[in-house]
Parts: sequence; structure tokens; C-alpha cells
Amino acid sequence: MASSLAVLVSLVCAALASGATGARVELTRVHSDPGVTASQFFREALRRDMHRHNARQLAASDNGTVSATTQSSPNSGEYLMTLAIGTPPLSYAAIADTGSDLIWTQCAPCGSQCQQQPTPLYNPSSSTTFSVLPCDSNLSMCAAALAGATPPPGCACPYNYTYGTGWTSGVQGTETFTFGSTPADQARVPSIAFGCSNATSVDFNGSAGLVGLGRGSLSLVSQLSAPRFSYCLTPYQDTNSTSTLLLGPSAALNDTGVGTTPFVASPAMAPMSTYYYLNLTGISLGTTALSIPPGAFALNADGTGGLIIDSGTTITSLVDAAYQQVRAAVVATLTLPTSADGSAETGFDLCFALPSPTSAPPAMPNMTLHFNGADMVLPADNYMMLDGGLWCLAMQNQTNGARSTLGNYQQQNMHILYDVGQQTLSFAPATCSTL
Ligand SMILES: *[C@@H]1O[C@H](CO)[C@@H](O)[C@H](O)[C@H]1NC(C)=O
Ligand SMILES: *[C@@H]1O[C@H](CO)[C@@H](O)[C@H](O)[C@H]1NC(C)=O
Ligand SMILES: *[C@@H]1O[C@H](CO)[C@@H](O)[C@H](O)[C@H]1NC(C)=O
Ligand SMILES: *[C@@H]1O[C@H](CO)[C@@H](O)[C@H](O)[C@H]1NC(C)=O
Ligand SMILES: *[C@@H]1O[C@H](CO)[C@@H](O)[C@H](O)[C@H]1NC(C)=O
Ligand SMILES: *[C@@H]1O[C@H](CO)[C@@H](O)[C@H](O)[C@H]1NC(C)=O
Ligand SMILES: *[C@@H]1O[C@H](CO)[C@@H](O)[C@H](O)[C@H]1NC(C)=O
Ligand SMILES: *[C@@H]1O[C@H](CO)[C@@H](O)[C@H](O)[C@H]1NC(C)=O
Ligand SMILES: *[C@@H]1O[C@H](CO)[C@@H](O)[C@H](O)[C@H]1NC(C)=O
Ligand SMILES: *[C@@H]1O[C@H](CO)[C@@H](O)[C@H](O)[C@H]1NC(C)=O
Repeated sequence: MASSLAVLVSLVCAALASGATGARVELTRVHSDPGVTASQFFREALRRDMHRHNARQLAASDNGTVSATTQSSPNSGEYLMTLAIGTPPLSYAAIADTGSDLIWTQCAPCGSQCQQQPTPLYNPSSSTTFSVLPCDSNLSMCAAALAGATPPPGCACPYNYTYGTGWTSGVQGTETFTFGSTPADQARVPSIAFGCSNATSVDFNGSAGLVGLGRGSLSLVSQLSAPRFSYCLTPYQDTNSTSTLLLGPSAALNDTGVGTTPFVASPAMAPMSTYYYLNLTGISLGTTALSIPPGAFALNADGTGGLIIDSGTTITSLVDAAYQQVRAAVVATLTLPTSADGSAETGFDLCFALPSPTSAPPAMPNMTLHFNGADMVLPADNYMMLDGGLWCLAMQNQTNGARSTLGNYQQQNMHILYDVGQQTLSFAPATCSTL
């Protein structure tokens, strides 16, 4: 009995260690308190989007002096994942962010410059699989920190990763990470480079760090042997079920209705280098193609413009020339009166008053985003939002800069695969609560 148990344990460990099938991880929405009404939630989400856009703009406007590691603000990410670090594995929650690269957590000993976190601090000296990353490692930012000096022997790579509105610093190490919400879905992946932080300026409420899923070499996806991930986000109104993130080989779409579009190469400069740019060539509402100026979503040589897909932004924002076309088309589709005070109540630009607070919203056509090589069909529930007696367009124009962002409200009930190896995005309609 004891020996067969031992055999079983070692078999399970071997299967986990190989990580051959990848991992399945639950994603929970930040601030998805059951007590929060849809309207409160969206006001909060809009505020966080604004914060994220401002942070990105701040980072991007400073193109001469920006460090190679400047990214968006981490505490505006919308989804948390649970993962475990080290051996034995210590579990913690981190923000999953497609808009930045570094994986980091706070490490003990941590002094006055650490933030409170909900789970115990990870202590590298209690793990048998921790190593510091030497200063001459190519998978590190220490070259920048050393500024050309030859590293002394035994040098541990320091880092200071700057976000638009904050920073985290410490030493870089490598560790074995465990991904997956249940033992059957787990993978243990050795030698992942990460930031072991002993000082941070950001309040990442509810989490103990961040997992970067961007395009850069330090991100989790770039460090997987099968560099891809997919997620499927359950509808905002469904507070019962959790969303899913699939890492590595398990990230795959079933054939029916899959569209695939190539990523557009990112600008070389940070923070844009980490973003996933898409080639959006047009938008239709129902069968009507909107007359959006050509080039509205073009990515410019100086790194401005373009359209990115982001997990951490809630509401899609479009350059005004495109947004006004979408807005006008939605107005033309409906016979309901627009609600003058709707935007004050909800934070949205365009709301319609339903006949009564309990009225069902009217049927509306699908909106189609025409990407290079694939159409993404958004049912009304993915671009309109019901808030009591108001029926609002869940999109907005840019308040900052010319970059457009496809937000996660528009990605509900779609299985979306980021294949960093193939440099493509694939998507298919899905019922995410049953994935
Ligand atoms: C970047 O800097 C160059 C030269 O200083 C300037 O011409 C350009 O407009 C800047 N671009 C942005 C996006 O600020
Ligand atoms: C780092 O070095 C390893 C081995 O020397 C090489 O395989 C890998 O491609 C390098 N990575 C980068 C990002 O340059
Ligand atoms: C990290 O960089 C930021 C911005 O450059 C700076 O304000 C902060 O003091 C640095 N942190 C440490 C610990 O050096
Ligand atoms: C963090 O660690 C670095 C490198 O070991 C050290 O130089 C620095 O003083 C530490 N900072 C704090 C706030 O403990
Ligand atoms: C942190 O979380 C608590 C509890 O969920 C919440 O009351 C508080 O507003 C949050 N703080 C920030 C800055 O988000
Ligand atoms: C959520 O779960 C509760 C209790 O199980 C159930 O009453 C409710 O209908 C569910 N809501 C949705 C949207 O499925
Ligand atoms: C694909 O379809 C198979 C068979 O229906 C199902 O078992 C599997 O979970 C599906 N996978 C995904 C990622 O949807
Ligand atoms: C929207 O698209 C879906 C899938 O392509 C289709 O089944 C549905 O009938 C469309 N709805 C409308 C209102 O055209
Ligand atoms: C975007 O797609 C259009 C049409 O499919 C193509 O002509 C154009 O070259 C693409 N642009 C980029 C930057 O890939
Ligand atoms: C955004 O749209 C609103 C109304 O639709 C308009 O008043 C505002 O000027 C636009 N903002 C920008 C930055 O274009």
C-alpha cells in the first residue's frame, strides 16, 4: 500500500514536472463582489480604465527618457489568477496582465517598502528550487542596471521595473512555478525568471504580485516551451462562474467558427513593445459598413496609434473618428430616447432610456470587427450594457493619445488564443462558463 502510493506520487510528480499538457487556471475579476451593483461596478471599471490609459499615456509621452521597462499601472488589471511559487509550492494571487511582461512577487525579508498582501510572503531561502539570476544572464534587465560595467563574480541581477504610476524593485531569480487550479490541471514549470521584490510603490490590493503575459522575453508566455495562452471570460452579469486561462499546450481552440488574424509587429520602444497590436480594417453594425477613415487604426512609426487587445482594460476605446461612426450607427438603429443624464449616472457617453426599469432591452444587430483575415462578431450583449432602466453603449472614445484598445467587456463569451510562437490571435464564440 505504502509503496504503491509512493509510485503513484512519483508518477503524478513526473507528469506535473513535464508540464506537457499545460495548465488550466481560474481567473477571477478584480472587485467582483456580489454586493456591488452593475452600475457601481462599471463606474469603478471606467475609473480604472482611465487610470490605465493615463498611465500608459504618461509612459508613452516620454519617449526620450523612458526606461526599457516602463509599463502600464499594475493595480488597474482586471483579472486575478492563483499560482504557486517554489518548492514546496506557496500559493498566492497575482494580477494576470497582457499589457506588461515581468512576473514578480514580494519576497521575504521585506521591509518598510513592501505592501501588505493577503497571503504569507514567499521566502526564497525556504525553497529548494530558487536561484538568483546572474548578472550576465541574457534573460534579465540587469544589463540596464549595470550600465555597461562588467559584473563582479557572483553578482545577482538587480532590477527596478517601472510602471506608468509605480515601480517594483529587487533581485531577479529563477524558480519553479506551479500553475493550475486543481491537481489534474496542474503543471510545474522550472527555471522561470521572475522578480523577487523587496520594495514596491504600488498598492496591488488583493494580490501579491503580477504575472505579465505580454510579448516581451520576460513574460510568462515567452518563457513557456509552448509559448501560447488562451482565455475565456464569462459574462459580466454572470457572477457565479469563473473565467478560465489555459497555458501552454492546453491552450487550443476547437475548430468551429475560429477566426485567426496575425499580430502587427509592435514598436520597438517600451511600453508599446509588449502590447498585442491587431490590424482592424473596419467595423460594421448589422450589414452596414461604417465609414471609418482609412488609417484610423494605423500604427505610426513613432509608436502612436494602432489598436491593441488587452485583458486588463474593461471598455473598448476607439479613436474619435471611429467612435463617432459607431455612436451614430447605434443611435440610428434604435428608436428609444437618449437619456440626457445617463452618462452622469453610468459614466458612459451614450445611454438610452428604456420604457421602464424592468423593460427588456430591444433586439440589436451584431457588430462586426473586421480584422485582417478574420471577422470578430460581437452580439449586442458584448457592446451594449443594461443598467437598470438604461441601455448604454459600452464603448468610449480616446481621451488620451491615438491608441485604440479592445477591452475585456467586448471579449466576453469568446475563447481567445494568443499564439506568440505563430504571432497570431485566434478566437471563437464560446460559452465560457462551460469551458
Ligand atoms: C519622440 O521623440 C522624438 C525626438 O525627440 C520626437 O520627434 C517625437 O515626436 C516623439 N514621439 C512621441 C510619441 O512623443
Ligand atoms: C539566452 O541565451 C540562451 C542560451 O545561451 C539562448 O538559447 C536564448 O535564445 C537567449 N535568449 C535571448 C532572449 O536572447
Ligand atoms: C525605481 O525607479 C523609480 C522610477 O525611476 C524610482 O522613483 C524609485 O526610487 C526606484 N526604486 C528603487 C528602490 O531604486
Ligand atoms: C533590496 O535588496 C537590494 C539587493 O539585495 C538591497 O540593495 C536593498 O537595500 C534592499 N532594499 C530594501 C528596501 O530592503
Ligand atoms: C482594497 O480592498 C478592500 C477590500 O476588498 C477595498 O475595500 C478597498 O477599497 C481596496 N482598495 C483599493 C485601493 O482598491
Ligand atoms: C447563481 O447562483 C445562485 C445560487 O446557486 C442562483 O440562484 C442564481 O440563479 C445563479 N445566477 C446565475 C446568473 O446563474
Ligand atoms: C474541445 O472539444 C472537446 C470535445 O467536445 C472538449 O472535451 C474540450 O474541452 C474542448 N476544448 C476546448 C478548449 O474548448
Ligand atoms: C449574430 O451572429 C450570430 C453568430 O454569427 C448569429 O447566430 C446571430 O443570428 C446573429 N444575430 C443577429 C441579430 O444578427
Ligand atoms: C492590414 O490588413 C490589410 C488588409 O487585409 C493589409 O492590406 C495591410 O497591409 C495590413 N496592415 C498591416 C500593418 O499589417
Ligand atoms: C468624445 O465624444 C464626445 C461625445 O460623443 C465628445 O463630446 C468629445 O469631444 C469626444 N472626445 C474626444 C477626445 O474626441
